[in-house]
Amino acid sequence: MTRLPAQLADRLRPSFDGRLCCVTGGAGFIGGHLAETLVGLGARVAVIDDLSNASAAHVAGLIDQAPDRVRFVHASILERSALDEAMDGCELAFHLAALGSVPRSVEDPTRTWLVNATGTMRVLESAHRSGARRLVYSASSSAYGDNPDLPKRETMAPEPMSPYAAAKLAGESLCRAWSACYGLDTACLRYFNIFGPRQAADSAYAAVVPAFIKALAGDRAPTVYGDGGQTRDFTHVSNAVAANLLAAASPRDLAGGVANIGAGVRTSVNDLAARLAALCDRPDLTPEHQPARVGEVRDSVADISVARDLIGYEPVTDLETGLAQTVDWYRGRTAADAGEGRR
Ligand SMILES: NC(=O)c1ccc[n+]([C@@H]2O[C@H](COP(=O)([O-])OP(=O)(O)OC[C@H]3O[C@@H](n4cnc5c(N)ncnc54)[C@H](O)[C@@H]3O)[C@@H](O)[C@H]2O)c1
Repeated sequence: MTRLPAQLADRLRPSFDGRLCCVTGGAGFIGGHLAETLVGLGARVAVIDDLSNASAAHVAGLIDQAPDRVRFVHASILERSALDEAMDGCELAFHLAALGSVPRSVEDPTRTWLVNATGTMRVLESAHRSGARRLVYSASSSAYGDNPDLPKRETMAPEPMSPYAAAKLAGESLCRAWSACYGLDTACLRYFNIFGPRQAADSAYAAVVPAFIKALAGDRAPTVYGDGGQTRDFTHVSNAVAANLLAAASPRDLAGGVANIGAGVRTSVNDLAARLAALCDRPDLTPEHQPARVGEVRDSVADISVARDLIGYEPVTDLETGLAQTVDWYRGRTAADAGEGRR
């Protein structure tokens, strides 16, 4: 499902073929795409996920596809023995397990800190114990907060505005510290609004793209918090997958380096709603507005030049292509669900 350009896949394959990789949060949205791509590149993959925000279905599909190369540990990253079991013998670790969502972190900051900050430290400790060579950390553009300067550059002082952002930023510091003190090479990828197939649409904390598609598919107007003039760098999941692979395969010492991973294009939430309404053939469904949510930043777009320099990153899927592919996927799923219902 996550197709990398053939040339890039061919270039990356020797770095992963036969290698043992651990993906924390590998049952989730981005982790699931990453695990699937790793399997496609010939890697052996150990997934650890507590399924708090994912079903077992996708990882079960991966096991069916490559039973001798995929292992699943159903546990929390906070459980040392389970984490060590997942990490055992891994050369490369990709750390994606986290509690997402800014609003949820505002409601339950302690849990967010435990999983996203303490959990990251435990993953680093386990990776070090297992002798892993490198860990790639899924960081977040929320680190930039409401600093009005655009585009966001890694040299800007972080200004986390929510418990989620603060905990994800702490994870970056931990990565740098583990590189400096324990020789575990790390890289921190600050994602900007990743979207794509399989992103959860059903929770109260759903990200904007699946939430809009779900509303439109159900003949309802999408809900926009605030005036909709807020902007984001909506980035297709294949770009995040490519960035993880490039960071893991890099011949350089990355030493906790931080790189923005976005498409580098600024789009307003109102514009996103209009594009999705058109793709869903419902241009008549214009957004309904609700009050802006606490902790949300106003504008965000990535400068991706550090990612280009550090790991050779280039976006592989643009916004229009990515949105069309995502709408197609949700439509296919909706049709399949309707078929199930009729049986
Ligand atoms: N989606 C985005 O736009 C975005 C933006 C910035 C950063 N990120 C980061 O990318 C990573 C992946 O995000 P995603 O969008 O795929 O979210 P996701 O919720 O689909 O994936 C996270 C996975 O972690 C699992 N998990 C949660 N707590 C766990 C625990 N204690 N132990 C084991 N597993 C646990 C969940 O079940 C889920 O499968 C996260 O670290 C997130 O902070 C995502």
